Amino acid sequence: MITEYIRITDSNMEQLDRAAKALKNGQLVAFPTETVYGLGADALNPEAVLSIFAAKGRPCDNPLIIHIAEAEMLEVLAADIRPEAKKLAQAFWPGPLTMVLKKAPIVPPETTSGLDTVAVRIPDNEIALELIRRSGVPVAAPSANLSGKPSPTLAKHVLDDLNGRIPFIIDGGACRVGVESTVLDMTTKVPVILRPGGVTPSMIESVIGKVVLDKSLFNAQTVDKPKSPGLKYTHYKPEGEVIVVSGERSDVVEWINKNVVRDREEGLKTAVIAAYENTPSYNVNNIIPYGSIKAPEDMAANIFRIFRDCDDAGIEKIYVEAIPWTGIGIAVMNRIEKAAGGKVIQL
Ligand code: TXA
Ligand code: MG
Repeated sequence: MITEYIRITDSNMEQLDRAAKALKNGQLVAFPTETVYGLGADALNPEAVLSIFAAKGRPCDNPLIIHIAEAEMLEVLAADIRPEAKKLAQAFWPGPLTMVLKKAPIVPPETTSGLDTVAVRIPDNEIALELIRRSGVPVAAPSANLSGKPSPTLAKHVLDDLNGRIPFIIDGGACRVGVESTVLDMTTKVPVILRPGGVTPSMIESVIGKVVLDKSLFNAQTVDKPKSPGLKYTHYKPEGEVIVVSGERSDVVEWINKNVVRDREEGLKTAVIAAYENTPSYNVNNIIPYGSIKAPEDMAANIFRIFRDCDDAGIEKIYVEAIPWTGIGIAVMNRIEKAAGGKVIQL
């Protein structure tokens, strides 16, 4: 299959028409959102949805998020929508909040992997919204990476993974948020954050009161030797081994410097991903700043791209400084820990 690559700017939105038509006709289109690039199909067309799983190599038991352009569409896709859900939609849509609600009968089981719930959001990206509007269908879209790879935050990443496997890639530049949306289960009495993202727990609590983080988010094992990969938790993974190091700043720097020297003696190609402020403390060739410690949102925006850059450079071991579990830092730490297979060096 030939993949058509279309670069969209504010002034050539009409170029979306062919891709929108293809979407409506059951084909796949990769498109930018404010979080990461998505791989879209008509959410109400079972065959189209199944082709997403095939193109990504994604297990069929992992349900998809449906992207809509108008909040009214929520009433078509979901049932028993409680008032808190409407309040959240009003507060955070368009934006990186996905809500899980009871599904309406119109949504096929292929989209929800047989669950009786459905995940829905309105993305905060004009190209995504325009594509959805022009197609006239709700768009089911996982992140547009091959299953297991870091999510794509540039169209180039989508091309690297899916060239020849899908008919259209829309290039709309870099994704602003850089980590996937917050997934909030609204079907329980106290809503549960299943995946942390750009909309933080305190932002949600300021609108509807108490929410909790799903227990599985605290499954990272703290270990003193990063040996056996905890495959069960490995996701978003670069090819190199990821080692997350947490503790006092000076201890973290010392531990990483020591280990990098040992790696070098063993002939391993290593990189360190550190807060911008800490980079001068490392005596390492590949020191990659992932943002200021004061701006975890920059770290979120950069982390997946950095993982992919490490792959391109053939890095075999990637040491990552942990950051505080607050605000969007929760989402960053969640992605980093997953990339590390759930292992964290706690000093
Ligand atoms: O930011 C994002 O959410 C991006 C962009 C493209 O919108 N999409 C994305 O999709 O990250 P994906 O498929 O990579 O992740 C969807 C997540 C998965 O963790 C999935 O298990 C969860 O949402 N999910 C979807 N439907 C669900 C449901 N009915 N119940 C519980 N979790 C659900
Ligand atoms: Mg994904």
